[in-house]
Amino acid sequence: MPGCLHVCNPLYHFTYATKYAKPKGECLVRYKWNNNKGEEVMKKILVAGGVMLAASVSATPFEKPEDAIEYRQAAFTMIATNFGDLAEMVKGRKEWDQQTFSQRAQFISQLSYMPEEAFKVDGTDKGQTKAKPEIWSDWDGFSVKLDKFQTDMANLAKVSLDGDERATKRAFGEAAKNCKSCHSDYKYR
Ligand code: HEC
Repeated sequence: MPGCLHVCNPLYHFTYATKYAKPKGECLVRYKWNNNKGEEVMKKILVAGGVMLAASVSATPFEKPEDAIEYRQAAFTMIATNFGDLAEMVKGRKEWDQQTFSQRAQFISQLSYMPEEAFKVDGTDKGQTKAKPEIWSDWDGFSVKLDKFQTDMANLAKVSLDGDERATKRAFGEAAKNCKSCHSDYKYR
């Protein structure tokens, strides 16, 4: 545990001086640290933070199943738009620009993590969706495809940052296989 990092301010001293049994003029936070209470305070802050984090992770941001469906379709639309631009460069239909390529690859890598939580929302197997029921009846298989997709996109983002055009194109080829591989098993045409 480091020492007290609190920067004492006079107003704080004044407010708490009479409220707590501690020497007058002594900062409350510093007083606690000096009396070996620092770790206790720190633990309380960490526990409170942990509870808040757990609450925000378990609650989905979607109000109804349709919202989750729209969200994952929007994510795939953005993935496809960015990926399509990369394909144009790889096929030579557009001038090669390593910086743009790398930027888009970072976007796709981030986006590749987004659809997953929307597939976990109950009721999103029905309605305006092309998701096949196999996603839920074979969640493990779907998860493997998602993981591979995320790994290959992260690799593409990393390789493209290094600036080697040939290595980038090779990583693109690997990444591109993911779309069809998942769609043929888990998405209606
Ligand atoms: C792990 C599985 C998986 C991978 C990998 C994947 N997709 Fe999809 N994709 C889906 C599913 C499932 C849907 C249907 C979502 C829905 O309608 O609810 C979908 C939908 C789409 C859509 C339609 C979005 C809309 O507006 O309805 C596009 C476009 C798309 N994907 C492009 C891609 C591209 C391009 C890649 C590769 C770079 C890719 N997907 C990789 C599973 C995947």
